[in-house]
Amino acid sequence: MEGSAFVVELERFKSEQLAPILSAGQTSLTGGDPRQLLQVALANEISVSELAALWIPTTREIDVKLAFARQAGDEAGHFQLVADRLAALGFDAAAFQPPPDNALFTYLKSLDSTVQRIAAGLFTLEAIAYGVNENFMAYCASRGDDETVRIYREYIQPDERAHQ
Ligand SMILES: [Fe+2]
Ligand SMILES: [Fe+2]
Repeated sequence: MEGSAFVVELERFKSEQLAPILSAGQTSLTGGDPRQLLQVALANEISVSELAALWIPTTREIDVKLAFARQAGDEAGHFQLVADRLAALGFDAAAFQPPPDNALFTYLKSLDSTVQRIAAGLFTLEAIAYGVNENFMAYCASRGDDETVRIYREYIQPDERAHQ
């Protein structure tokens, strides 16, 4: 199989597998405070930044090593954007305490081959992040929080797409 045909097939498989997960997430976003979801986003951004940073020194391929390094910096930037937005909404992000790793991040940190890390981290986790963010933006838009939508649309989502 040609490399490009493989990528097209893999992309289709991924979209089919993720669709039910993301649509379930969409219907669960019906109430609550967007600030709570922004705090979940803070936890995710710092967890992904740490994951990418953890993989830098033990990834031998220089192009992948650099991709993880750039990703770690980008996710730290997302953390800062979300923290600034929370501050504007009256939440003190300095009081934020990163939660312990959940089962997903414990698993991801255990991956030790470059192919596994690309497949699980850059390819799959970033696709989930992009879809979850799209759901969150639709939720914010429905609540009139256009500024949070703008931050995600202009800064965060282009990075998440690039990480894929
Ligand atoms: Fe991010
Ligand atoms: Fe990302």
